[in-house]
Amino acid sequence: MFDPMSRITDPVLASKVTTPERAAELIRPGDTVGMSGFTGAGYPKAVPSALAERIEAAHDAGEDFRINLLTGASTGDEVDGVLARAHGIAKRAPFLSDPTLRRQVNAGEVEYTDTHLSHLAQQVWFGFHGKLDVAVVEVAAILPNGLLVPSSSVGNNKTWLDLADRVILEVNEWQPRAYEGFHDVYYGTRRPPYRMPIELRDPLQRIGDPYLRVDPAKVAAVVRTNAPDRDNSFSPVDQTSQDMAGHLIDFLRHEVRAGRLPENLLPLQAGVGNVANAVLAGLAEAEFEHMTSYTEVIQDNLLALLDSGKLDSISATSFSLSRERAKQFNAEIEKYKGRILLRTQEMSNHPEIVRRLGVIAINGMVEADIYGHVNSTEVNGSTMINGIGGSGDFARNAYLNFFVSPSTAKGGSLSSIVPMVPHVDHTEHDVQVLVTEQGIADLRATAPNERARRIISHCAHPDFRDRLLDYHDRAWRENPTARHAPHILAEALSWHQRAQAGRPM
Ligand code: COA
Repeated sequence: MFDPMSRITDPVLASKVTTPERAAELIRPGDTVGMSGFTGAGYPKAVPSALAERIEAAHDAGEDFRINLLTGASTGDEVDGVLARAHGIAKRAPFLSDPTLRRQVNAGEVEYTDTHLSHLAQQVWFGFHGKLDVAVVEVAAILPNGLLVPSSSVGNNKTWLDLADRVILEVNEWQPRAYEGFHDVYYGTRRPPYRMPIELRDPLQRIGDPYLRVDPAKVAAVVRTNAPDRDNSFSPVDQTSQDMAGHLIDFLRHEVRAGRLPENLLPLQAGVGNVANAVLAGLAEAEFEHMTSYTEVIQDNLLALLDSGKLDSISATSFSLSRERAKQFNAEIEKYKGRILLRTQEMSNHPEIVRRLGVIAINGMVEADIYGHVNSTEVNGSTMINGIGGSGDFARNAYLNFFVSPSTAKGGSLSSIVPMVPHVDHTEHDVQVLVTEQGIADLRATAPNERARRIISHCAHPDFRDRLLDYHDRAWRENPTARHAPHILAEALSWHQRAQAGRPM
């Protein structure tokens, strides 16, 4: 019977409530499926597992059953994990973090299109990914006339709901009903040549609706769930991360003193991971007040910065909280209303907005070379780790960008500063400041040879510094007519050849 007090107050959609198994029957072999989910928040918790069982049964019967899976970014074991273990994914975009799926991508079983996170929605609108057959989207509540209260991430859900032929909604009662009012879903996107400027001038400005919309006629199934988001816990901040955070915060102080940054800085974007977490912890101790954040994800320490009163507001597309912090947030959600907005990832990561607001972007890297090209994704130019995520969206358009990494990896056997990176995510034209625990290299307004001197002397680990200096000196001497960014090509990737063979660099 229809219950007006329930999470589903639309009588038409309430009549479509069914089991995950029945809902999963709506997904067919070869379908392109857009699922919700971003950094382990707001992903569907039940239908993908039921789908994985169907896929396994089909495989047992000798049938091929795989789907093309699009999401916001990473999901949880209940999406990527179960579907990968069932060998049910043919193609995946735009990001991954699941270990089984990573193995399958690196074994050549799954085709992975590593995509800037702000780009995927428009690429699907443009038809670059073919037709979107099904959307599976988690929400916190369904209101009359197909208005949906989003849950802990918005991601690409607007696009999936707009474009999919068939829609499956999961209503998750673990997500607070009080999420209503935390979202800003921009409905002004048009295709070129009819695009309009995006009138967003302040991180907390509303430019859209608090709800997602769906055509009720397209909704083929509604499933009720009650399950938590992924636990995004971090290890305690270690000395190396603290040192990197210290260098970065000192640099911000220096920029304020030089008059290049206002005293409350500019809107901050911090990637996920231990270093970003340490920087945010460091900012809680620093003197900056009335900071703002225009970012992609809200991790524990960003929320802590808001609680401390140092940060006034946060715009993002998703939460990425530890289980403990998520519990606390859900219990106290009302106190955050009006200080946090979750947007579509098209808008949270939009190049136009990032550039207008003058975002300070802080992202991790795998390695950088002596001229400032950065590799964020592929070990030895071949093995995918996660993907570029939002780092390109933010870094390329930021007022100021930082790339951070410990100066060595794998117990000190690999240097994170190398003669030449074997894969480039961020080119020398986009990279401004490199940070390791050794120090900081300001690359702004420098030519390649000066960059090499700064990166080697400030960022490289002492164990590798002399060899890098020697490489750069010889490259300079051996190339009298090619000294803009000199290399010894036969040697430039020899460091990675040794690493690939399992030897120290
Ligand atoms: N050479 C080879 N492997 C390296 C390496 C190097 N120089 N540096 C790191 N790695 C390996 C690590 O050993 C680890 O692999 P393992 O788990 O098999 O040991 C893996 O890369 C991740 O490194 P970790 O030390 O855990 O770093 P992290 O959590 O700080 O992540 C990135 C670093 C670059 C992988 C991560 O920041 C990322 O995915 N960035 C791209 C996306 C992004 O920037 N998103 C944020 C935008 S909002």
